[in-house]
Amino acid sequence: MSTSTTNIESVLNEQRVFPPPAEFSARAHIKSMEEYERLREEAEREPEKFWARMAEEIHWFRRWDKVLDWQPPHARWFVGATTNISYNCLDRHLSTERRTKTALLWEGEPGETRAFTYEELHREVCRFANVLKKLGVARGDRVALYMPLIPELAIAMLACSRIGATHSVVFGGFSAAALVDRINDAGCRAVVTADGGYRRGTEVKLKAAVDEALRETPTVESCVVVRRTGSQVEMKEGRDQWWHELVETVGADCPAEELDSEHPLFILYTSGTTGKPKGILHTTGGYLLWAHLTTKWVFDLKDEDVYWCTADIGWVTGHSYVVYGPLSNGATSIMYEGAPNHPAPDRFWSIVERHKVSIFYTAPTAIRAFIKWGDEHPRRHDLSSLRLLGTVGEPINPEAWMWYREVIGKGRCPVVDTWWQTETGGIMISPLPGATPTKPGSATKPLPGVAADILTRDGEPVAANLGGFLVIRRPFPSMLRTIWGDDERYRQTYFGEIEGVYFAGDGARRDRDGYFWIMGRVDDVINVSGHRLGTMEIESALVSHPAVAEAAVVGRPDELKGQGIFAFVTLEGTREPSDELKEQLRGHVAREIGALARPDEIRFSDALPKTRSGKIMRRLLRELAASGAVKGDVTTLEDFSVIEKLRAQEEE
Ligand code: WT7
Repeated sequence: MSTSTTNIESVLNEQRVFPPPAEFSARAHIKSMEEYERLREEAEREPEKFWARMAEEIHWFRRWDKVLDWQPPHARWFVGATTNISYNCLDRHLSTERRTKTALLWEGEPGETRAFTYEELHREVCRFANVLKKLGVARGDRVALYMPLIPELAIAMLACSRIGATHSVVFGGFSAAALVDRINDAGCRAVVTADGGYRRGTEVKLKAAVDEALRETPTVESCVVVRRTGSQVEMKEGRDQWWHELVETVGADCPAEELDSEHPLFILYTSGTTGKPKGILHTTGGYLLWAHLTTKWVFDLKDEDVYWCTADIGWVTGHSYVVYGPLSNGATSIMYEGAPNHPAPDRFWSIVERHKVSIFYTAPTAIRAFIKWGDEHPRRHDLSSLRLLGTVGEPINPEAWMWYREVIGKGRCPVVDTWWQTETGGIMISPLPGATPTKPGSATKPLPGVAADILTRDGEPVAANLGGFLVIRRPFPSMLRTIWGDDERYRQTYFGEIEGVYFAGDGARRDRDGYFWIMGRVDDVINVSGHRLGTMEIESALVSHPAVAEAAVVGRPDELKGQGIFAFVTLEGTREPSDELKEQLRGHVAREIGALARPDEIRFSDALPKTRSGKIMRRLLRELAASGAVKGDVTTLEDFSVIEKLRAQEEE
């Protein structure tokens, strides 16, 4: 990272404001900005008292002696308390009407569905928890879950947390090599997987990858395999056993263990600036509280809602907002196994229509794909059940935000753009849909209790509308506790950059209304002639041109200006690349933002290189822009042929 103290220059100038619909506010958990302000002030004035009051929403077996023990940079929350997240997600609802309510409603990519009531889910979780115990998995042991998006994944997570085993979910799209690193880093004792899963009509062979991985993982004693696709797999004697056979050998009685509030709940690996992934550690009580509260506040969950977060559980979004948050609130949570365009680009809208989804949470990259595929796909379906839309994962450009609001939400549904990270465990900056007036492209304001701020590199406050570094000033219950096995890296990465605060790694600005505008990772910031520009803002300008479907902007070394601006652009289906269009787009950006932001070079491409979680791999584009080649690690790339095509253009 640069050591300069120059501010990041922010050039996005969005003026539209959308107040929440009055009928929505009238029924919302948080109904007005006055109510929001009251909560925010309460948290500001007496944080520990505030968190203690919020923690009343959770079931504790034993209450805390102390709300917070803060030995910077280490926090312990609800010290001395015991609880269990599996208990909060299941047992707690069994004495209420929710006992027979649908907890999980799953749809496989080939089209089959399975539903579990709270009572049924509880039973399955107890049985699998007993299986784990039988396999010798005990409190504190780590278990790797390498699975497709099937109900057994949620069941396995809840079974682990029920007995105090720490789960490490590894996204099913990762390779055997990536799985080896993650299993060994955490020292997992068992692995749960499936024969395979479905993605775009083809089978992803998970067990074969596990077989390859387990040759190099000395700590793994047992492997449980779910039969999902029915394809042929090898079962290694003494190590591998079928899920459906094991659950027949145990009973359904398995009381939830009373776990310390700081008991390790899960490890989830995420990329950092170095090659080695970081094992982000979350613990029990604080994470549970925040997953629960944010689901209730941000999604305004009601008992009659049908809630669908489209994320894979291999990412933190799936942990907090497919499984733990919705279930602790007693919601009906939808899980869909496959691709958004299988068998056709209207699959998501067909799911919304058939299951009467009322709350829908997805990623900007998906929204941009929907725009590209054409409005006819959502238009074909009855989307009138929807009442709230959310996005997460990267900055959303105002054009995509407006399309989401108009074409999917028909202008009726509030849109919540939620900023957070694997490290924060839950949503940090977001509109409250019944209270906060929204502005397209802004995550709006920090949730009550979140001390978000924008500072310079030296820790100085930044004036309105100037860019700076996004930080969190005070510890919060769901913050990561450390990086598994590397506490020094934890200190350095998150508390070593700016004195005394949590450093998120994002650039942001705050406007005169106190709204936050996330500008992207600070390592994605371009410095042109001493002015730093957020790549996302140039991308937004490009995407606002009618010919552009998607754009990724990176910096390229430039002798005169420090960095030049290189834009990779995907065109709308009907548009042809041409030099004339390149000139038009350069002029368009110059007009939208200023001559400073005019791209030096534009390259058209029919796709952009993305990670399997859908993030554009700007690092690869930076390498391509700088040297015409890609040398670094490409293991998380979704489709390598994209890079091949871009490279081929280089040689033309
Ligand atoms: C990074 C965290 C949070 C779950 C999914 C991603 C970016 C996330 C937003 C948003 C702008 C966003 C940030 C952040 N990001 N949400 N609403 N607006 N940027 O989790 O993989 O840990 O990535 O995603 O850059 O630091 P993650």
